[in-house]
Amino acid sequence: MARGKKLYEGKAKVLYQGPEPGTLIQYFKDDATAFNAEKKDVIEGKGVLNNRLSEYFMTGLNAVGVPTHFIRALNMREQLVRQAEIIPLEVIVRNYAAGTLAKRLGLEEGVALPRPIIEFCYKDDSLGDPLVAEEHIIAFGWASQQDLDDMVALALRVNDFLSGVMYGVGIRVADFKIEIGRVWDNDFQRLIVADEISPDSCRLWDIKTGEKLDKDVFRRDLGSLTEAYTEVARRLGVLPTNAPQMGKPTLVN
Ligand code: C5P
Repeated sequence: MARGKKLYEGKAKVLYQGPEPGTLIQYFKDDATAFNAEKKDVIEGKGVLNNRLSEYFMTGLNAVGVPTHFIRALNMREQLVRQAEIIPLEVIVRNYAAGTLAKRLGLEEGVALPRPIIEFCYKDDSLGDPLVAEEHIIAFGWASQQDLDDMVALALRVNDFLSGVMYGVGIRVADFKIEIGRVWDNDFQRLIVADEISPDSCRLWDIKTGEKLDKDVFRRDLGSLTEAYTEVARRLGVLPTNAPQMGKPTLVN
């Protein structure tokens, strides 16, 4: 499909104008960044894996009635999505203590939380995406109280879906981040899940071994990121056919 004009380039994705009004083409790059882009690398095949995994999760969400921006897959690195007005908040759902929550509250990583905890961070790289309270969100007009209620409901539904799907393949969803956008159907505004859902934006732990199968592998130099993401795709049965095969080399006689 012919891409339109480049509209936006982020750390891991590029957005192009789509073929019809109200659509975009979302291209997944191989770039990996962490700690607000202080750590950077290019990891061959990551974009292909994330494109496939995000397609898988978004398709599943659409199928169970959780609206997302995903329309259809286009190729190994691109998907057609619905254009949405992104609410400038990262919505984080946590089931187990990890990352900045563990650090902030002095919790041991891996401790089960008493209930899912939702946090909001204001999307601004120059500020390091700071954690904000509902008070800030309302006062600064980033979202209304109604939006916030809808965002919490949407995030919890995504959590139930993701946790269930991943439990089925022996993986614990410790936490994840989503972005939410507004769309208009005639005069009716509603919120949909946008951006991506992939091991770049989740913490995924093998239930039996605790092995990390997400971007922490890159953040903490724990081994091969492609191997970890390939393992997630393999377990879900969605390994892209010409993604890098990361098995051990075999001798050819
Ligand atoms: O770093 P922190 O513990 O706050 O991250 C919580 C979750 O949100 C993790 O799964 C992380 O991958 C994700 N996240 C993200 N993008 C950010 C910040 C966090 O995908 N900018």
